[in-house]
Amino acid sequence: MTVLRRLDLGRLTLLALVLVGTVAMVTKDRWDWLLGSDEAETRGVDAPTLEIDEDTDREAWLFRVAPDNGSEVRYVVTERLAGSEKSTVGRTTVVGGDILVDVEDPTRSMVGEIVVNVEMFDSDSGLRDKRLRHDFLESTHWPFAHFVTREMAGLPGTLTEGDAVDVSLTGDLTVKETTQTVTFTGTVSLAGDAVTANVAATILGSDFGVGPINIARLAHTDDEIRLEFDLVARRVDASSAVDDLSREVPVTEVAGGAFAEHVQPILEQRCVSCHTSDGPGWSTLAMDSAGDVAVIADDIALVTGAGYMPPWLPSDMGVDLHNDWSLSDEELSTLATWAADGGGLDVSPDTPLVARTQLIEPIDRDQVLVPDAYTGSLDQPDDYRCLVYEVDDPEGDGNWITGFAFEPDQTAVVHHAIVYRVPAAARAEVDSMNGADGEPGWTCFGLSGLRSDGVYSIAGWTPGQSPGIYPDGVGIHLEPGDLLVNQIHYHYDHETPADASAIVLQTATTAEVAAGMRSIQRDTYLTPAEIPCTPDEDGPSCRRDEVLREIGLKYGAEAALIPAFINSQCTGPNDQYGELDGTVGYSSCDLDASDEGTIFSVLGHMHEFGAAYRMTLNPDTSDELVLLDIPTWSFEWQLDYQPIDDIRIERTDTVRFECWWDRTLAHMEEPRYITWNEGTIDEMCFSSIAVIPDP
Ligand code: HEC
Repeated sequence: MTVLRRLDLGRLTLLALVLVGTVAMVTKDRWDWLLGSDEAETRGVDAPTLEIDEDTDREAWLFRVAPDNGSEVRYVVTERLAGSEKSTVGRTTVVGGDILVDVEDPTRSMVGEIVVNVEMFDSDSGLRDKRLRHDFLESTHWPFAHFVTREMAGLPGTLTEGDAVDVSLTGDLTVKETTQTVTFTGTVSLAGDAVTANVAATILGSDFGVGPINIARLAHTDDEIRLEFDLVARRVDASSAVDDLSREVPVTEVAGGAFAEHVQPILEQRCVSCHTSDGPGWSTLAMDSAGDVAVIADDIALVTGAGYMPPWLPSDMGVDLHNDWSLSDEELSTLATWAADGGGLDVSPDTPLVARTQLIEPIDRDQVLVPDAYTGSLDQPDDYRCLVYEVDDPEGDGNWITGFAFEPDQTAVVHHAIVYRVPAAARAEVDSMNGADGEPGWTCFGLSGLRSDGVYSIAGWTPGQSPGIYPDGVGIHLEPGDLLVNQIHYHYDHETPADASAIVLQTATTAEVAAGMRSIQRDTYLTPAEIPCTPDEDGPSCRRDEVLREIGLKYGAEAALIPAFINSQCTGPNDQYGELDGTVGYSSCDLDASDEGTIFSVLGHMHEFGAAYRMTLNPDTSDELVLLDIPTWSFEWQLDYQPIDDIRIERTDTVRFECWWDRTLAHMEEPRYITWNEGTIDEMCFSSIAVIPDP
């Protein structure tokens, strides 16, 4: 039920039907049966089925697994959802395939290709189902998993009605684009007009690119997945037409509820601006109408209760910050109560939801810079591309940027962006690299890839990032002839749409410039990332020197020297790595502030093992102030946070940067000593503080 109501109707007709598999590898001399490749006509089912040749003298019975005939396929996985561990089961009854039983010699019976509609997997959480389909199974592209039996062991020489016999089926399991050999074991029995098979196998999700799942704050799963097939195959009369495989679609009743008065305002203030057209969360989940949210009431209660949505990570330990999207306890309980009462509506499901608070403050669009569209390649699913943005400078006296926004074009593939200011003197280097491989820009894994002096980052973007608007009289100065180079991280799953993401600049007027402008300073602080293998882990990559050697080969000799350099800069309690023997790594480093003025924004950055982050001004003193505390880190939300109060920072101040990592958060092919570097398997404890200098 839950699945059906959240699929769009256009797809339902197709999804509710099953494909019946073929027996691909039956050889004619062994089986004197005609293998029909007939296209089943009924309701769009276009897979070939198996037929019995009427002329054969062997007696064979054909059995068919069809959707909703009593068959069920399950995955069982251990999951920690919102903190508590349990075994999660997802089920689908939309499975098909043929079984041929040779009556005289049952050992020569055959199992045809079994096809499972993974899009119809239904667990106790619609959110999980959707996430699984969208991010892991990518089932819009690969709606079916296939199992082709290559070898069967355990079939008896004679048939006894009702006897369950132990069997094992070894064959090729295909999920998405990966095929692996898997052995299912269990029992098979024949009774009346049905063959029943109960078989199971354990696979690793990572083998098929479907896990383990790690969503900060929300869900983590084990890599091991148990697949259980309870198949009921009913005898098919060879002369009869193929079964009608269509399914009835149940209609969801919408109950009454205090939606309009209590729930709608919370959603419209706290969620809708990100979840309607073109908002960062829209492609994952549209909240365009009351009906959209009513069908996922339970999911809304789950994601808000777990603190996953709204995506506000900082804790109250730190200073107060602008744009705090978090929900009050009262708002949380209103949503939870509404969901527990059935998530009903007292308005029509068509009622539009309208963003009441612009969570994101717009900037003046003085310059909209659009680069040449770039198309990546599926060969490089993680693509870091530097694109060139020309800045208008009609008076020839440069620009003061007072507001900055990055507007992703292809939101489904654009993950992050870092914008560099590039001086006119570097133009020759830019020209030599730009378009050299036939596409706009160049590959720039790491930084901008430019070696010229005067290239530094001025802004960054991650999903959900609001435009930066600087206070009056403050901005980022671009000299005449300066360019912007934007390193965009694209991540491709199955399409590489041409992308032309825009940079929007709000620039100072002549009068503002005449009144005097100050340059905002963005200082970066690099602090250690050293996460050794645990005592249980072993292998060549557990040796730090081996990992550094590999880094040197991949990113150049200099890259291998970075970790030691960073470690040597630290004062304070930075000597604790050696003591770590669990899965959690920790780094703490005190550095002198590099600037003086008022703090405009603070940012922490780690890669996918990041677990928690803290930045403290003047630690262990009476002036100690936690600038940013993120108890549960999320790779997806690395924002520039702006303190509300004016906080001064002096060069004599000390700032402590603390990062925590959890080795279990991302999948490692083999255990590895993790140290500082650019790759996703490397880590960083990277921080930046933007400071407005004194007038
Ligand atoms: C700042 C923007 C933003 C705000 C505010 C926001 N969301 Fe989201 N939401 C997102 C993004 C982006 C995603 C997709 C995240 C992903 O795919 O990792 C998302 C995903 C979701 C999902 C789907 C999760 C999944 O795994 O399928 C739900 C449900 C959700 N949000 C509910 C809410 C609710 C309820 C609120 C308000 C209480 C809210 N969101 C507020 C941006 C936002």
